[in-house]
Amino acid sequence: MTTTVGTDIDIAAAFLRAGELVGMPTETVYGLAASVALDEAIKKVYQTKNRPFSNPLIVHVANKSDLEWVSDKPFQLAKDLVDEFWPGPLTIILSKSDRISTYATAGSSSLAVRMPAAEMALSLIQKVGAPLVAPSANPFTRISPTTAIQVKDYFDGKIPYVLDGGKCSIGIESTIIKVNENNLQILREGAITAQHLAKYPIIQNDYSVHHPGNYKKHYAPNTPLRMVRSIKEAIKKFPSESTVLILFGKHSDFRQYKTIQLSEEKKLEEAASNLYSAMSEADSMDASVILIESFPDQGIGKALNERLRKAAINNLYE
Ligand code: TXA
Ligand code: MG
Repeated sequence: MTTTVGTDIDIAAAFLRAGELVGMPTETVYGLAASVALDEAIKKVYQTKNRPFSNPLIVHVANKSDLEWVSDKPFQLAKDLVDEFWPGPLTIILSKSDRISTYATAGSSSLAVRMPAAEMALSLIQKVGAPLVAPSANPFTRISPTTAIQVKDYFDGKIPYVLDGGKCSIGIESTIIKVNENNLQILREGAITAQHLAKYPIIQNDYSVHHPGNYKKHYAPNTPLRMVRSIKEAIKKFPSESTVLILFGKHSDFRQYKTIQLSEEKKLEEAASNLYSAMSEADSMDASVILIESFPDQGIGKALNERLRKAAINNLYE
């Protein structure tokens, strides 16, 4: 099978209706999409990603009102959140209706659903005429892709088409919240932060309860990545020839090192949009270690630190 990268939504929709998988751009990261109406196609998503069949998928819808289609009696709290944050990077978990295949939810009666903001994704879902399941378009434990070409590199010859929507504007995966009748829990940090959700009743996660996505290692480059408090201190231990530095803000004293800049102006949103591509680029530089400083723990910085902890071989807080 040849993998084509293109911008033709009709071609992409035709493949999806025929039960094939398509790389789909969203504002967060690229997804590996299949029609939620076709169980065989959903199975192919797990196989192609090498993802455990116990790890459920997010269903992507094109309208706020689809909430009532994917879930029979959504709580008022879910409706309020959808009104405020959709379309956008907020995935909510609630109980599923019988219309949604248990292949999508890995056998569970709860469902993860979001309405993406990216126009191309919305047009694609509309053209297919059914919601689309879409996990991030990376093989299990690898970095999520933020460009179409990265999706092609990961799945070349395994999927027929990648819809090219350019670089993802946000660059990290959606915030995931579990919506209960009277409160909510943040299961995965993202661009929509606890500050944005401040007017809603948030309760702390009970980490003794296993959530499907709680794998400690995730988003990992092959080159060991170390999360450090200060690169200036840390480089004393690493030879410049074999070390890549991923930087946040201007520095003048690292000239002998290979460096990749996330945001000269130290903007967290800009760093988010560049983080995964920087990790892939660093990974391709034949280095023996990648060093990166933890981010200020505010706004989207919290989500970035969560991703770094999963990608790193050390734990800064151990
Ligand atoms: O931004 C995103 O959310 C991207 C784009 C493509 O939309 N998608 C994405 O999907 O990140 P994925 O599959 O890589 O991550 C979804 C996470 C997984 O950790 C999964 O375990 C969790 O959501 N999840 C899905 N359904 C769930 C459910 N019913 N209960 C608890 N967790 C669930
Ligand atoms: Mg993923």
